[in-house]
Amino acid sequence: MSARKFFVGGNWKMNGDKESLGELFMTLNTASLDDETEVVCGAPSIYLDYARSKLDLRIGVAAQNCYKVPKGAFTGEISPAMIKDCGIDWVILGHSERRHVFGESDELIGQKVAHCLESDLCVIACIGEKLEEREAGTTDAVVFAQTKVIADNVKDWSHVVLAYEPVWAIGTGKTASPAQAQEVHEKLRGWLRANVSDAVADTIRIIYGGSVTAVNCKELAAQADVDGFLVGGASLKPEFVDIINARS
Ligand code: 13P
Repeated sequence: MSARKFFVGGNWKMNGDKESLGELFMTLNTASLDDETEVVCGAPSIYLDYARSKLDLRIGVAAQNCYKVPKGAFTGEISPAMIKDCGIDWVILGHSERRHVFGESDELIGQKVAHCLESDLCVIACIGEKLEEREAGTTDAVVFAQTKVIADNVKDWSHVVLAYEPVWAIGTGKTASPAQAQEVHEKLRGWLRANVSDAVADTIRIIYGGSVTAVNCKELAAQADVDGFLVGGASLKPEFVDIINARS
């Protein structure tokens, strides 16, 4: 097994309320969680403070998005400085919903990555191909191009986790098979080895997202280049604990 610490992120997306999240905090705070796994929950921005104040400190919190500058006239946006000010250390950037529902470009995602890292916020950077791209045989080209834009904006890779989330697997119940996930993760690590450095390729956590559940997580977690998960729907349920403990 690799020396990379297993990383399980939850992405609550635009779900939950104070009551249901309060129950989830109770479940997570009292659960027996593998200490060899780093856990980070991605909360809606309005609940970031609530999540940070209620969750046990062994569980990290992430924002799901932010803007590319520290402050200013950007109605509705939040900055990395504000996220840090709430005691939060992580942000999810480039999620497929930001790319495809809100039209975020690679260029904007790259600028956000650079500014978050400069602001000392750790980044879960998401990439992944659409179904038509997989069917057209362009998965590698798509994920390498997305990774290049991220890489061009990273100085300190120790603050970055790369999340491979095939768009066709998100929220669809259609998980990538362990072999499909492993194949892309291995190629991404190869790309990083060729274009960044051996040290980064060896140490970066490449996590998988897309219909991960308590049922399929163990086999995915057993793949050599799968260093964790980014979990949507199941991260709001008690089964998130089983996913955190997938390698136990
Ligand atoms: P699901 O686990 O609901 O498929 O969502 C995955 C995801 O988008 C995590 O960021």
